[in-house]
Amino acid sequence: MNFEFNEENEKKFNNLLKRYPNKNSLTLPALWMIQYQEGWISQDAMQYLAKRLELSPMDIYSIASFYTMFHLEPVGKYNIQICKTLSCMLRGSENIKHIIENKLGIKAGETTKDMKFTITEVECLGSCGTAPCICINDDYVQNLDEQKVHEILDNLTHEETPK
Ligand code: FES
Repeated sequence: MNFEFNEENEKKFNNLLKRYPNKNSLTLPALWMIQYQEGWISQDAMQYLAKRLELSPMDIYSIASFYTMFHLEPVGKYNIQICKTLSCMLRGSENIKHIIENKLGIKAGETTKDMKFTITEVECLGSCGTAPCICINDDYVQNLDEQKVHEILDNLTHEETPK
């Protein structure tokens, strides 16, 4: 088994164990810890967590695979999630997607060879009032237009945080 919590997550995990009477309840926070530690959730990590929570690996997998925000394969440093649901679609998300795909040279669902960018299409990001909207890692970028998309991608290429 090639995964274990780093020191910080080990501490967090043990603190959470004291707060939750039922170990099952730690599944989601522990999956987040794994994802923040590794960038994704490997089978080794799921087996490790199953052991720590006294659950079966299938229990962990069924939860990790249910939520699209958990990555079961490696993703790029910047995971660009493009909302494809109605409000965003009506406000031009398809065009936004094409601009991002053309600029990065990959299609939705793919990762650049240098592992810097992944494009993911997702259902409603819950920000319909500010459509079209994308989410880059944990940061929302709203009211997008062509110019803003170009600026964001240029900034990310030069390692600046999106605004
Ligand atoms: S439809 Fe895109 S955020 Fe809701």
